Amino acid sequence: MDFESVRDKVVIVTGGGSGIGKAIAVNYGRHGMKVVCADINSSKGEETVDLINENGGESVFCHTDVGDSESIERLVKSATERFGRLDGIVNNAGIGLGGFPLHEYSIAECENILSLNLKSVFSAMKFASEAILKSGSDGGFIINIASVAGLVPQSGQSLYTATKHGVVGITKSAAIEYAPHNLTVNAICPGYIMTPIFGNAPKEAMQYFSSCCPAGRMGTPEDCANLALFLASDMARYISGASIPVDGALSAGARNLMQWKK
Ligand SMILES: NC(=O)c1ccc[n+]([C@@H]2O[C@H](COP(=O)([O-])OP(=O)(O)OC[C@H]3O[C@@H](n4cnc5c(N)ncnc54)[C@H](O)[C@@H]3O)[C@@H](O)[C@H]2O)c1
Repeated sequence: MDFESVRDKVVIVTGGGSGIGKAIAVNYGRHGMKVVCADINSSKGEETVDLINENGGESVFCHTDVGDSESIERLVKSATERFGRLDGIVNNAGIGLGGFPLHEYSIAECENILSLNLKSVFSAMKFASEAILKSGSDGGFIINIASVAGLVPQSGQSLYTATKHGVVGITKSAAIEYAPHNLTVNAICPGYIMTPIFGNAPKEAMQYFSSCCPAGRMGTPEDCANLALFLASDMARYISGASIPVDGALSAGARNLMQWKK
């Protein structure tokens, strides 16, 4: 595969200080993209930037709270001021929330996750799409990090599921709007990916995540970063409005009883 077409594209990656966002930012930097790493955690974000720059790439950090629309507007402005243009954005920052039936979640939890996982994506798409179109990019792209929970609802995750279905919906709608303007809009839907988002989840829960996946393992952040690189490249210019699982077949359907040996 030839990823030369991504060289010198200017991209923002939100939540670039950890997990999936970090892997995407590092992969972009390795392929010659100019990476604006945005995160609420300055030390983690700076670590990613240092890693990219130490390996010959070009990256800057921008402290950002995606829960604050003005902070996102400042992020887009500073990216275009620093590099003179914007070609793409990866809306990755978000939080997990699970383990309880719907009635046990509070209104405050609902407002918080809607703000961090959905309103944030709208705000970032709004400001970034304007900047990408103004830049006259002929390889413009928006990638939203949704989840398999945006495709297949999961019990115990009513609020998280609602936000990720929202991300898949806004991705499709915007893809139709921007297709005539050569700006692609896609979602990546990770399954269970080994990152700090699981916090101190008990060992049994982590074992369950591996065993319920047909691939028999959790994914790595790099599994998602590979797709993000492809979607940013000119090889994916005719792919838009897609929500693509990276989940070891987790969302493909239910398993049944079967004995089969190679
Ligand atoms: N890990 C998984 O299994 C999985 C599965 C499906 C979807 N996802 C999605 O992938 C995305 C990244 O998840 P991850 O597992 O890499 O998580 P992570 O916790 O490793 O990283 C999230 C990053 O976002 C940053 N962040 C959090 N709140 C922020 C805010 N308000 N403003 C700016 N930055 C903020 C954090 O500081 C951190 O660097 C999320 O949207 C998550 O919902 C993850």
